[in-house]
Amino acid sequence: MSKEKRVVKILRYDPAKDKKPYWADFTGEFNSDSTILDVLNEIHWKSDGTLAYRRSCRSGICGSCAMNVNGQNILACETPIHRFKGRIKIKPLPGFSILKDLVVDMDLFFEKLKRVKPYMSIDKPLPDKEFSQSPDEFEYIRESVTCILCGACTSSCPSLWANKDYLGPAALLKAYRFIFDTRDDATNERLDLVNDKNGIWRCHTIFNCMEACPKNIKITEYLSRLKVKIVENSI
Ligand code: SF4
Ligand code: FES
Repeated sequence: MSKEKRVVKILRYDPAKDKKPYWADFTGEFNSDSTILDVLNEIHWKSDGTLAYRRSCRSGICGSCAMNVNGQNILACETPIHRFKGRIKIKPLPGFSILKDLVVDMDLFFEKLKRVKPYMSIDKPLPDKEFSQSPDEFEYIRESVTCILCGACTSSCPSLWANKDYLGPAALLKAYRFIFDTRDDATNERLDLVNDKNGIWRCHTIFNCMEACPKNIKITEYLSRLKVKIVENSI
């Protein structure tokens, strides 16, 4: 496996001692198939143990390692360094406040998720076994259930940059996932939750969320279906 010398610039910020964020440079030899997370680990283990970043599964499942590299929101554990030519510039997800280095404050993100009630609501009598769902019915929500709540979409949404109270693409996608789930019984309540001044109508179909999503979920398309459903329901 070949090694390559790369300059890595990381936006550092420790609110306990720094007045403002600053760029720190690291130079190292990395395997060409290293991921961004491998690079951060190497820097953390060998050069600077104070570097803060989130990671857990290393498999693109937990959603904790989303960050911005050379202007793109990516998952550090899934993104090889050979995707980027020249120097690698790593900064925290834009649009979130920084807690330390690459760790951002996700409290508001998860609070908005809770607002759309991200769990199944059932009124009908429970069946003996599981609720059945046809393959066609599942197809409607198949992609949306693969969301790993990394926040990359929400971070890249200009509507959210302009209005912090907007629910944002990840929470709205979660609402979609239950509204279009044939087993759920709370459709009207859920539609009311997203048909709000800070809800679905703040989505201006900009497509940034879709471009940022590391799971390639067609978020904008699903949010458009949500708008159509609200209009149909009101007629
Ligand atoms: S929709 Fe995609 S970008 Fe947004 S939180 Fe889910 S996985 Fe991340
Ligand atoms: S470490 Fe879990 S998604 Fe990257």
